[in-house]
Amino acid sequence: MTTLIRTENLTKKYSAGNRFFCSKTAFTAVNNVSLEIREGESLGLIGESGCGKSTFGRAVCGLEKITEGKLFLGETDVTNLSKGEFRPYRKNIQMVFQNNLSAFNPKYTMYQSIEEVLKNFEELSKSDTDARIKAIFRSVGLDEKLLYRYPHQMSGGERQRANIARAIVLNPKVVICDEAVASLDYALRKSILKLLNDISGQYGVTYLFITHDLSTIRYVCSKIAVMYLGEVVEIMDVENMEQTMLHPYTKALFQSVLITDPVKRGTICRDKIGELEYLPKVETGCVFYNRCKYCTDRCQRDPPQLQQAEKGHMVACHNIEAFNVCTLRK
Ligand SMILES: Nc1ncnc2c1ncn2[C@@H]1O[C@H](COP(=O)(O)OP(=O)(O)OP(=O)(O)O)[C@@H](O)[C@H]1O
Ligand SMILES: [Mg+2]
Repeated sequence: MTTLIRTENLTKKYSAGNRFFCSKTAFTAVNNVSLEIREGESLGLIGESGCGKSTFGRAVCGLEKITEGKLFLGETDVTNLSKGEFRPYRKNIQMVFQNNLSAFNPKYTMYQSIEEVLKNFEELSKSDTDARIKAIFRSVGLDEKLLYRYPHQMSGGERQRANIARAIVLNPKVVICDEAVASLDYALRKSILKLLNDISGQYGVTYLFITHDLSTIRYVCSKIAVMYLGEVVEIMDVENMEQTMLHPYTKALFQSVLITDPVKRGTICRDKIGELEYLPKVETGCVFYNRCKYCTDRCQRDPPQLQQAEKGHMVACHNIEAFNVCTLRK
């Protein structure tokens, strides 16, 4: 399977304060993240608000300058490319932004917004552009008439479909969906998730699907990476994740989701996991130390590296053995 995106210890730090009153302390939003997205293997990136998901997504599509580490698109190291040099690669990585109203220029109709993307990256005749825009709009289930509306004249669901149409009009290999369904009601959420799934099959798009909602992951992704305070603590297959998850943070995150299937609900070990309350990160050691029921002196001292628990399953925890006992495997 071809690797589309690979990060090696990707780190993004923001300096505190503004341009004129910069403090010397930098805030690390993403720390040492090494992830791989392979063709046809959509990856869900999950974690609670503020853990660095969007920052990672923006860094991967060239919208944030990486502070440390490397970014590879295919085989090419694109870490230090200028905006101009990055442009040809950008065509293959598009983004569906979190807030779909502000994602569009309010002065442009939907037609103009999609046309702008095509003009930026392809040299098409007017009639070819027109045909392409209409076809992509139809393919996301929207009536062509809506192409001549402004963003505020559309419903949230319609706008999100248009947002997706704009992201896929260039036939990108990867689409980064940043909370693509978070602002939609339940029925719309399901229809957009189905649309994303259909697009993946039809156009061969692979997703980096950023969300804080575990229940949406399984519709679109085959792999999941769990992020906590800027670090990835677990990577695993979505299939049977309830049974395979090992990291105490992943389990706690999963507990916060209502599981409708009583069989699955019964297979998750709930008794040993504590409540997630906010505590600051420790300076050294494991990023989850302060919130972990199982922490030891070693956890406070040494940051655990991601290590293989089984094929395709990586966990950053010193106490995997203990959790294996607690996990009820089939
Ligand atoms: N431009 C910026 N300057 C300084 N700090 C920033 C900037 N952008 C993000 N941050 C900080 O980086 C951290 C990670 O932000 P990010 O938006 O990536 O989180 P997130 O996981 O996407 O959260 P959410 O689920 O709420 O969207 C946050 O603490 C945020 O305040
Ligand atoms: Mg975000």
